[in-house]
This record gives sequence, structure tokens and C-alpha cells, in this order.
Amino acid sequence: MAQAPGTSPGQLGFAPDFLWGAATAAYQIEGAVAEDGRGLSIWDTFSHTPGKTRDGDTGDVACDHYHRWREDVDLMRELGIAAYRFSIAWPRILPAGRGAVVPAGLDFYDRLVDGLLGAGIQPFATLYHWDLPQALQDEGGWANRDTAYAFADYAEIVALRLGDRVRGWITLNEPWVVAFVGNLHGRHAPGIQDLPTALRVTHHLLLGHGLAVPRLRAVTPGTPVGITLNLTPVEAASDSPQDQAAAARQDVYQNRIFLDPLTRGEYPPEAAAFLGPATFPVQPGDLATIAAPLDFLGVNYYTRAVIRHAPGIGMLEHEQVRPPGDYTTMGWEVYPPGLRTLLNRVHRDYAFPAYYITENGAAFPDQVDAAGAIHDAPRIAYLAQHFAAAAGAVRDGVPLRGYFVWSLLDNFEWGHGYSQRFGIVYVDYPTGARLWKDSAHWYQAFLAARS
Ligand code: FCB
Repeated sequence: MAQAPGTSPGQLGFAPDFLWGAATAAYQIEGAVAEDGRGLSIWDTFSHTPGKTRDGDTGDVACDHYHRWREDVDLMRELGIAAYRFSIAWPRILPAGRGAVVPAGLDFYDRLVDGLLGAGIQPFATLYHWDLPQALQDEGGWANRDTAYAFADYAEIVALRLGDRVRGWITLNEPWVVAFVGNLHGRHAPGIQDLPTALRVTHHLLLGHGLAVPRLRAVTPGTPVGITLNLTPVEAASDSPQDQAAAARQDVYQNRIFLDPLTRGEYPPEAAAFLGPATFPVQPGDLATIAAPLDFLGVNYYTRAVIRHAPGIGMLEHEQVRPPGDYTTMGWEVYPPGLRTLLNRVHRDYAFPAYYITENGAAFPDQVDAAGAIHDAPRIAYLAQHFAAAAGAVRDGVPLRGYFVWSLLDNFEWGHGYSQRFGIVYVDYPTGARLWKDSAHWYQAFLAARS
């Protein structure tokens, strides 16, 4: 596949040591949900509940990565990525969430980490990508403060086993989605629709993160520790003061409820205006724990939000408008400039020491043609434009250190099941075969052109 002109990392202005990678998450790819002593997670329960996922899809088999991981590491080596972001399934390590450790669970990740290092790929591990042990949910899940302490214990257990080889820790993936999509909108596990619960979950996720940071640092001094947030640049649909205020509310809700406590030791005071009497269950000392300085912020970027005031609609009294343009099959607008805007804004307002794009990518209706090829030109364009936007942020002075494409493989896209293909590598689910899409060939050529 021919390489688009002007798209080598060096030509875009990325430093030679900029870390190019790809990302996945345990429940989305591993399968093998009942093997080697793994406990149930809330996503097993949720996906097996009728009506919760598209076509009743579950992660029972997914990409069967648990068995095919060697093949997947070979694939990454061939791609030429320098880093791989994967997540560790808490219920594989501690089936009940706390207490007895299953050595086979740790062994799996131990082999994976060694395999990656052997392929010259730096392992970046996410400790929580949404698969809470069901046993903890049975005790209230993240709404129960004890879960934060259990998370920090689990983080330490993982660090003691893998910490000599993991090159970066990500405590949580997208706590906003966990708290609000899972506990206010009910579209993700555990499927709850209750604002006070969502706020308890928010606070205990952040507390768990804050408690885990020093535990990770104590075991693995020198290994960078960060958190991944799904951040969305918010724009007002017009200059009207009402639309501007509505956009500001969305920014508080989606971005600042996490960014502010992580860096400023407080929840945004503006949140009270739309949260009403519901509050975050803060105890003395929590906010200092949560604001422990981090080595980096992980940013997941997919699209922007354009917001207009809509009295009476929802908690935030607003609605999202759909500007004309290109959309992915998720219904997300393709908006590359938002990545540059977002990185500049976050760096200006919060000044993390470093940033990684921990996810960026797109779902398109990929088709395998008669020759076995997958011509996903829209995904190539998407990635090329977002790489260029990230390069713009680097030129602006944002200390961006790496970029993980979402995703290495097509996988279980949560409530959407297998209907959304985000991979640069196609997965033929009936056989498990991995087929390179044109975007994988394109990324390979881009990476081969590193200076
Ligand atoms: C993010 C998730 C990731 C994947 C992408 C498309 O919100 O972190 O697991 O589902 O969206």
C-alpha cells in the first residue's frame, strides 16, 4: 500500500523517541472468561442480561486473545509499534475482587509482558478498564468506598509481579464512562440509573486512583504513573450567552469533574448548579489523596461536542447538535482539529508534566473483498489527520510523548457488541483469523519511516 506523502513521524515533527503504539482492553479481546480461575466481572453479568448489548453479544470468546496472544504479539512486532497498551482483568487476578490471588491470572500477563519485551515493545498496563469483579459489585461496587481500597491493594499485587517490566501504569480508563454511562445512563455495566450512585462511583474511582498511585510508586519507583480520561472539547453552537453557558456546563460535567480534583484538589464548584442536592461523598483527606501528582495524563480522543441550550432537556438542559461533516459508524463526528484544541486547553489549564494519547481511532463499515483485502481509506484518513493534529499540539509546546491507536484489533465494543469495527486489523470472528486492513499496512509504513 502506498504511503501517503508527508506522513512519516519525522516529517510531521515527532521526535525519534515518540512512542507509537496501539491499545486494547481485556474484556474486549481476551475471551476465555471461565478459564484458569477467572472470576465473573460486571461485564459478564451485563452482557449476559437480555437486551443489554446489541444482538446479545458477550465477551465470552471475543478475539480469543487469551489463547492467541503470541500471534498478536507477532502481529505487533510486524507492525513495528514501540508500545502496547493493554488492560489487566482484575477478576483474573482476584476472582472475588480481594483476598485469594489466582497465580494463573498473573502468569498470563507475565508471559504477555515478556513476549512484548522480547518483540521490542514497551508494555503499558491499564489496571481498570471497566471489568469490576462481580463479587465487589454485589457489595455495592464503586458506590461502596471499600472498593477504592480493594483497587489499591489489587494495583499493588499486579505491580509486585509485573512492575519490573511494565513501562507505564494507567490506573483507570475513562472514569467518566464508568460513573455516568454505567451508573446514571445505565447503558454500560452495572446498568444503574441513579445520580447519587453515579457521584459516589465518581468519587470512589478517583479515590481508588489516588490510593493506588503511591502504592505503585513504592513498588516501581521510576515507572511513570497516570490516569486515562475521555476528554471532549466542547463548543457552543452559537455566541448566545445561553449556548455558551450550556457548553460550559457540559465541559464541567464531562471534563472538569475529573480534571479539577486530579490537579486542584476540588470538584468544580459549578457542578452543584446542575447536580442539585446530590453530592460527592468526600471524607477528610480524600481530595489531597486524589490530587497526588502524576507523571502523565492519558487522553482518549474521538470527537468534539457542539452544544446548545435546551431548557427542560435533561440534567444539563442542553442538547448536542450534529454539525455537517463526516461521521463514523458510532455516529461520532470526525473532527481532527479538536485534538489539538483539546491538548492545548488541558495543558494550559492543568499543566500535566506529560501526555499520551491513550486512544484514538474510528469505526467504519469494513468489508473483506474477494481477494481478502480490507480497503479502509476513511480510517487511514482519520488517523493521518489526527496524527497531524497531534503534531500541531507538539509544535504548540504540549509535552505529548506517545500515541496509542484504538484499536489493534476489531473487538467487543461494549453495548454495541461486535457491530463496531475499530481495529486496524480485522478479526473474522467465526474463525478468529486476523486480517490486515489497509490502515495496518499504512501504519506499518508510517512507523517504518521513523527517523
Ligand atoms: C473508549 C473505550 C474503549 C473503546 C473506545 C471506542 O471509550 O475506552 O474501550 O470502547 O471507546
